[in-house]
Amino acid sequence: MKSKLAVCVTGAGGAVYAKKFIEFIDGKFDEIALVVSRTGEVVLREELGISPEGLIPAGAKSKYVFYHRDDMTAPIASGSHDFYGVAVIPCTMGTLGRVASGVSDNLITRCCDVCLKERRPAVFVTRETPLSLIHLRNMTTVTEAGGIVLPACPAFYNGEKTLDEAVSFVADRVVRVLGLSGVVGGWKNNE
Ligand SMILES: Cc1cc2nc3c(=O)[nH]c(=O)nc-3n(C[C@H](O)[C@H](O)[C@H](O)COP(=O)(O)O)c2cc1C
Repeated sequence: MKSKLAVCVTGAGGAVYAKKFIEFIDGKFDEIALVVSRTGEVVLREELGISPEGLIPAGAKSKYVFYHRDDMTAPIASGSHDFYGVAVIPCTMGTLGRVASGVSDNLITRCCDVCLKERRPAVFVTRETPLSLIHLRNMTTVTEAGGIVLPACPAFYNGEKTLDEAVSFVADRVVRVLGLSGVVGGWKNNE
């Protein structure tokens, strides 16, 4: 088990990706630090009918600690605090843009800033379409800074038939790019 991962949920469509990803990493870290943006809470409620606490899997194996989005005293706001990295899932264009501009105006953007400066894994599961030039430039900037932009693009080439399988594909890709071993089958042609 690794020590701690920060998981940030922002107000983009696809709250189900956060829920599935957390299910997949449960037990892979001693602690999962969770931060949910204001609109992230709205989307969790609208799409899944849950509050942030509903993200914690039943019978959780990791410890889950929630931090308020404005709590800049949280440990994950500091580079001297040792944690593995961050996944922003789903990630809005707003949060991506603020990270790309170095605007650490809340705990989510600050935590991402910390991970990029400390060269720790930082994954941004964006969900927006179509993309403006501003979105594309922000994706480039974050990538150049060492982040991984992983658009929520379900695949249909592994025989996915259900929504759950399509969602699992995306959540599994996030697990893998974080350097953790995957959860679902992976690419049929490669494995
Ligand atoms: C129901 C709902 C769905 C949204 N979906 C998206 C989305 O898919 N992608 C996106 O970039 N913004 C989306 N937005 C807009 C963002 O939530 C909004 O820009 C917000 O200010 C982002 O703040 P945050 O990054 O702190 O969560 C959505 C908003 C709502 C209310």
